[in-house]
Amino acid sequence: MYKALTCVLIALVGITSASNVFNVKSYNIQQVASPFAQPELRLTLCPACIDIADRSINVLLELILDTGIIGSCSALCQALGQKTGSAILATVCDLVCDVVGIDEFIKMIDKADIDPIWYCEIAKMCPINDHGDAKFTKFTIAPASGPKGTTFTFDFAYTSVNGTGTGELDIDIQCPDKIPIGTGFLLEASKAGTYGQKVTVKAEPDPHCDPTQEMCEEWLPGTYNVTIQVCNGECGSKHPHSAIYDTVKGSFVLTK
Ligand SMILES: *[C@@H]1O[C@H](CO)[C@@H](O)[C@H](O)[C@H]1NC(C)=O
Ligand SMILES: *[C@@H]1O[C@H](CO)[C@@H](O)[C@H](O)[C@H]1NC(C)=O
Repeated sequence: MYKALTCVLIALVGITSASNVFNVKSYNIQQVASPFAQPELRLTLCPACIDIADRSINVLLELILDTGIIGSCSALCQALGQKTGSAILATVCDLVCDVVGIDEFIKMIDKADIDPIWYCEIAKMCPINDHGDAKFTKFTIAPASGPKGTTFTFDFAYTSVNGTGTGELDIDIQCPDKIPIGTGFLLEASKAGTYGQKVTVKAEPDPHCDPTQEMCEEWLPGTYNVTIQVCNGECGSKHPHSAIYDTVKGSFVLTK
């Protein structure tokens, strides 16, 4: 086990970190470089592991559905390594599966009950802080209204007294046509302090959205309700080490 972990650590260094890693993603929503300092001790291992988890979870589900009975962690994780051609994915899978046990692991994958942050916390690659906290101290949307094509900027900050665990910043927009759009950003565990972020939303149809495959936001005139959450773990996750620290709401108006 110890040897395997060393291999992972070395191999991970070469992987670029992912910042936009969660299930719901919208092309329209972009993170602007933060005017506040990022956590001083930047742990590159955690984002790399989140990327690994993202690449693993669906393939694990396919393997379980295709092959039926899989008796051991090593058999399942080896199959993952073979299917993806990545030994690192297999090694991290082994770390998580060994902790939760093969039966529980399969059950969780079957129920689509695995989120990448929890996966990487169990693998001991993302730090856990269950005494963390965060409160929003600022949230503005500018401009307040504009025509289709306008770029709206969400400017917000939150303060943490105890620091934060590995978590997520989740942005959801309720649109007049009821098509939900949103995105989530990984928040690496941080020390106490005030952290600011700017996110832009361009109110124009996503050129990557294929209306034959999915519903595409048209950006009709009306009021768009925005909800931003800062969370320990993935927002909405039912796993341990998960909680919503705080929520802010706002809105903007598309005039035509
Ligand atoms: C902050 O940490 C202290 C000590 O661990 C704990 O007692 C307190 O409940 C924490 N605050 C929050 C908001 O979790
Ligand atoms: C936005 O919020 C307002 C007030 O809560 C509500 O009346 C309206 O239906 C919401 N709009 C959308 C598109 O969800």
